[in-house]
Amino acid sequence: MADDAFLEEVRRTADIVRYVSDYVQLRKVGGSWKGLCPFHNEKTPSFNVSADRGRFHCFGCGEGGDVFKFAMLHDKVNFPEAIEIVARSFGMQVPERNLGNEQTPDRKEREQLLAVLEAALEHFANLLWTPQGTKAREYLLGRGFRKETLEKIRAGAAADAWRDLLETLGRKFPTPLLMTAGLVLESQDGKKTYDRFRARAIFPILNDAGRVVAFGARSLDGSEPKYLNSPENPAYSKSKVLYGLSWAKGAIGREGRAVLMEGYLDVARAIEAGVGEAVATCGTALTGQHARLLRRFTDRAVLNFDQDGAGQKAARKSIDVLLEEGFKVQVVELPDGHDPDTYLKAEGADAYRRRLDEAPGYMDWLIRRAASEHDIRTPAGKSAYLNALLPTLARIESPVERAAWVPTIVETGGLDTMAAREEVRRALAHRASSIA
Ligand code: UTP
Ligand code: MN
Repeated sequence: MADDAFLEEVRRTADIVRYVSDYVQLRKVGGSWKGLCPFHNEKTPSFNVSADRGRFHCFGCGEGGDVFKFAMLHDKVNFPEAIEIVARSFGMQVPERNLGNEQTPDRKEREQLLAVLEAALEHFANLLWTPQGTKAREYLLGRGFRKETLEKIRAGAAADAWRDLLETLGRKFPTPLLMTAGLVLESQDGKKTYDRFRARAIFPILNDAGRVVAFGARSLDGSEPKYLNSPENPAYSKSKVLYGLSWAKGAIGREGRAVLMEGYLDVARAIEAGVGEAVATCGTALTGQHARLLRRFTDRAVLNFDQDGAGQKAARKSIDVLLEEGFKVQVVELPDGHDPDTYLKAEGADAYRRRLDEAPGYMDWLIRRAASEHDIRTPAGKSAYLNALLPTLARIESPVERAAWVPTIVETGGLDTMAAREEVRRALAHRASSIA
């Protein structure tokens, strides 16, 4: 349970207008503040915040409450977590007894780990704007990112040195903790320790609560690997964290969809362009855990992976994962050679938003892909085309919906209607028997 005295202290400190202003643009009207409600879609403001009463209320959707209620709704967290989030945003130290329900050793270790990762982030982020960060800074600014965006994503630089972070953080944190955090490595003979990230641009990876759990570090001189990522640690599992989610939560709720991209810089570009609902996996395939995490915020996913073979394959796999978790799935198509980053830079946010709005449903997209990948003029090609579609078709629960796709599949592939229906029927029977 949260400590009452601490709760009261946060309540006194946490000015609701200041807190809400981080998420909603508020305008003073008479004695209160007005803005567009973050909890439902609206064009005219019916969301009110009263500084005196410390409460918000939306006349459109009826949501209302105090600053903690706002954090609970906005970040989809429980009451103790909301207290913690609000307290941190006002720079308050959260007493240990308030951190979660039980103070297990695991929990304590996790807090220490998060503290060292946050200290590393601050070090990298500061360095970006000093002479030691010149190469990374010029690289990022050279790609057309604004300072404001780089600050928002908390980008940083790792010095071109072997023990820069080690010496800075080593004063405050024990070396074994720096190693658990994946920031420091040990030489093979175990005699020397040195920084993992050197001479790279740093992209902090935050969890959905906005706390840094890992880093992606991009090389600046073409050296391999292009991205060096943190290894997993007790607070970071790459199959559970989506890059950008903590920044995207609000926009995902407002837009009623999440856009899934491949790269850190795609997400950064989307933020820069004002497309707030974008997230990415951290160099790994989308998992059921990612999908379930995202499902807390929306049931609509728009995939925008790279146009290359690997990206298309990843899109196909992700479709199945997302369908499994009950998502409605669409797939964006960009002109050849474009990824979200280059497209947004070349064509701008309005053109990109149109692509998102007009993105075909996953089945339309799959049918078109299958038709272009197989030579459907030949009998063998027709068969391969149909086989490529059957697994996904078999996943559709509703027989009515499934049957409704058959004519499009038949027509696009120039198939014989009777034979195709028979194949579909057999595939479904097989599915039923493999489930039973
Ligand atoms: P990309 O190569 O498309 O990188 O890899 P990017 O983020 O678009 O960066 P730019 O625009 O080329 O500079 C997509 C994602 O795959 C992971 C990273 O998460 C990256 O953002 N990745 C890629 C790695 O983890 N390691 C690598 O060596 C390469
Ligand atoms: Mn890219």
